[in-house]
Amino acid sequence: MCGIVGAVAKRNVVSILVNGLLRLEYRGYDSAGLVVVRDGKLDRVRSNGRVAELELKSANTYGELGIAHTRWATHGVPSERNAHPHISRDLIAVVHNGIIENYETLRTGLTTQGYEFTSDTDTEVIAHLIHSHYAQGNLLAATQQALAQLVGAYAIGVVAADNPHQLIAARKGSPLLLGVGECEHFVASDMSALLQVTKNVVYLEEGDVVEVNLADYRIFDAQGKAAQRPVHVSELNNDSVELGEYQHYMQKEIHEQPQALANTLESVCNSQSLVPGIFGAEANNIFPKIENILILACGTSHHAGMVARYWLEELAGIQCTVEIASEYRYRTSVANPKTLVVTISQSGETADTLAALNHAKATGHAFTLAICNVPESAIIRQSKLRLLTRAGPEIGVASTKAFTTQLAALFLLTLVLAKTRGRLSAEKEQQFLHELRHLPSAVQKVLALEPQIAEMSKHFADKHHALFLGRGLHYPIALEGALKLKEISYIHAEAYPAGELKHGPLALVDKDMPVVSVAPNDALLEKLKSNLQEVRARGGELFVFADADTQIKEAEGIHILQMPEHAGFLSPILHTVPLQLLAYYVALQKGTDVDKPRNLAKSVTVE
Ligand code: G6P
Repeated sequence: MCGIVGAVAKRNVVSILVNGLLRLEYRGYDSAGLVVVRDGKLDRVRSNGRVAELELKSANTYGELGIAHTRWATHGVPSERNAHPHISRDLIAVVHNGIIENYETLRTGLTTQGYEFTSDTDTEVIAHLIHSHYAQGNLLAATQQALAQLVGAYAIGVVAADNPHQLIAARKGSPLLLGVGECEHFVASDMSALLQVTKNVVYLEEGDVVEVNLADYRIFDAQGKAAQRPVHVSELNNDSVELGEYQHYMQKEIHEQPQALANTLESVCNSQSLVPGIFGAEANNIFPKIENILILACGTSHHAGMVARYWLEELAGIQCTVEIASEYRYRTSVANPKTLVVTISQSGETADTLAALNHAKATGHAFTLAICNVPESAIIRQSKLRLLTRAGPEIGVASTKAFTTQLAALFLLTLVLAKTRGRLSAEKEQQFLHELRHLPSAVQKVLALEPQIAEMSKHFADKHHALFLGRGLHYPIALEGALKLKEISYIHAEAYPAGELKHGPLALVDKDMPVVSVAPNDALLEKLKSNLQEVRARGGELFVFADADTQIKEAEGIHILQMPEHAGFLSPILHTVPLQLLAYYVALQKGTDVDKPRNLAKSVTVE
């Protein structure tokens, strides 16, 4: 939540800051702002709109040192006065991502000292605190002193009007990295913002404070001791964050799924057998010891966990519980040291998932595994085992390719655990490997249905509600379809296991309630068909995503999208794709901002 960019260079950094913010807008887009240092003064530009507006407003701004921010409001409504950077007495400017929990106490103290507050944000206290310690002109020391007074999470960037070539940045609980150029340096919330200027990156660690100068930088750890951190060369390229031929990132990311799946499965599909080592060196020791699994995640990632539960219990014979991270962390639960705690997260920085992981560890769970799309993220670093999904940067707020790659990763986990527990014959292993190799092209086939789905979406444009049905493995897919639709089209959508219809939701069904059903040709097909009849009998209009051989026929009030043949255990991955496309095209019909739905942000680093 909230994106930060900072730069110190021997050239105008305004376009670097703005281009960086454009890449980070997925983190929040309520308002944006930047400040540059020029001739001993702070020159600030803010806008209560999108970064594009800031770009126009700052077209004539010049500065060789600056910090910038795109906001997702927590304290204080979205407005220009609450937009970052926040400035103290024309001297200190700060951008911040995170939440300062003790800001009210600090604000009272600073007001007593005569500081005037011009915003409702928690961030402004940081600017005044640093100012209050800045008497000797040492920005690093003043920032360190101020940070010692803060309770909460932060990534910050700080500049001072009288310090034209220095930027201080720090992180604790929110991500921040340092970009290393030639006689120029940068900071940003994630690497996509910096690909325009460098590929050399230093991942700052929890509690790090960095003094960034033109020619060099110095890192200090949480104890204030000088620290060395390795410089990595990012594998990302600019194309992966460009829109290219697509109209929206969501559409691009839906279409990237075959490649994202191929990348995620690459190492496995190139080998002849599945080994625990793909989850980390310690997996060989840990996997034979585990008795059950606890999956913790939020949002779309939680839906991936729900699918995995069906796989794990059926194929690996291992008991599995799936919990929403924000609930688990505040519940008194009974820990079993032989449980494998699996966190699933696209970003690897979701506050609730991270807190749930730490809660699990604190209650005695030592075996932790992260399935995550961002290397070096907090969740990856804090877990013993890991499998990186290799979906590439996901920019659309509605998660698509991250979800299907999470499913692929969880299927691998299922197979490896099944093998460890002696439940996967050599023949079955080869069959599943074959199916996984075939998965990208199977998804490609589903993507070819895009024109039919675009046509189908027209039936939804004037609707206010929709019901999604699925059974078994595909119930979480129905949940995911409903989530996609509500997130980006603002149509109220609910998902139910189809067998549950008669226990309540059937009361809602009439001609104005489209009912979308996932209809794979699996063991529950005949039961599902009966459920669909129940809907039809009450005048509900059905939109059925049916496998080729289900024999569900198009008829009055029954629209069929003919899917390819049934894909067995991997079917949920294929059935996700048309639901993503449906949500996308309905949103287009409704003219919403597909990639930046109202009130949401991609990376939720607050509770
Ligand atoms: C936000 C995003 C969702 C995502 C969820 C969990 O709500 O908008 O797309 O599923 O956070 O995020 P994570 O990064 O942990 O998967």
